[in-house]
Amino acid sequence: MDIRHLTATTREGVALSLTPLTQADIDRVYELCQDPDIQRWAFSSNHYPRESAETFICEHTPDAWRAIDAGAFSTAEEGSELVWGVRIGENVDEAALWGTVGLKRLGEGRVEIGWWLGAGARGHGVMRAAAAAVVGAAFREDFPIHAEEIFWYAYLGNKASALVANRIGFQYTGYSVDVARVAQLGPAWTAVIHPGDPVEPTDWPAVGIFASGPGSEPDGGSCCGSSGDCGSSCSDGCSGSCSCDSAEPAVIQPFSRGCCC
Ligand SMILES: CC(C)(COP(=O)(O)OP(=O)(O)OC[C@H]1O[C@@H](n2cnc3c(N)ncnc32)[C@H](O)[C@@H]1OP(=O)(O)O)[C@@H](O)C(=O)NCCC(=O)NCCS
Repeated sequence: MDIRHLTATTREGVALSLTPLTQADIDRVYELCQDPDIQRWAFSSNHYPRESAETFICEHTPDAWRAIDAGAFSTAEEGSELVWGVRIGENVDEAALWGTVGLKRLGEGRVEIGWWLGAGARGHGVMRAAAAAVVGAAFREDFPIHAEEIFWYAYLGNKASALVANRIGFQYTGYSVDVARVAQLGPAWTAVIHPGDPVEPTDWPAVGIFASGPGSEPDGGSCCGSSGDCGSSCSDGCSGSCSCDSAEPAVIQPFSRGCCC
């Protein structure tokens, strides 16, 4: 496997290609990042102008890839983020961009993983598969990342992100006690994974993240399933009726529209 082209397959058998972002992705990133959940949880903001996509792709992401190409990538010092675009499809020239996974270098072998995915592709195990591929790459001996610890931080309440981290083997470490991080991020849930840890669901305590353990759903959300029974009654445990997600991405929609309570 090539570090510039990681591959993964979702539990539904959908092939993913993870490759660096290019200038051709600017409009797509801008479009996907109009989603309020991405703005809120990934950027702590309520707007995402096109310039942010340009800066992200043209200034923020190339540095780490240049370091990889030059054989100079290291996690010993703090440094720019290594970011893969998450593309749905096997053939990278045809695969459509739906999100990103990045590793931010914190120094001393530590990296922080971050991810976001466009609304139209959620709930199908795409990020679980993509993030697991990046975690695997970060620990591979024959890849130049050689992370010793991968941290996950999320603003309190981001249950969807917590479920991804939980499913791929991150161990819950509690509320953030790192004063600098809290100042930067606000109060956060934190988790960590080390080389050799199984990349599979772990036991997380029911501390407000999971009402009754990791198998339970976050509040609201997917209790109507993703088959698109819009207008039907919600399943047990949810009230109201199911309404379709009206956010229809302009680029190909790989999955049928989901609905939620
Ligand atoms: C967090 C995010 C990337 C998850 O992407 P995704 O592809 O939908 O996640 P997955 O489908 O791989 O889900 C992984 C697990 O979490 C569960 N899950 C994720 N979101 C869920 C939701 N809203 N409701 C119920 N379960 C959910 C899935 O059921 C799955 O568990 P399973 O494998 O046992 O079935 C996506 O919701 C997102 O981009 N959110 C906005 C940005 C964000 O929060 N970024 C993270 C900042 S820390």
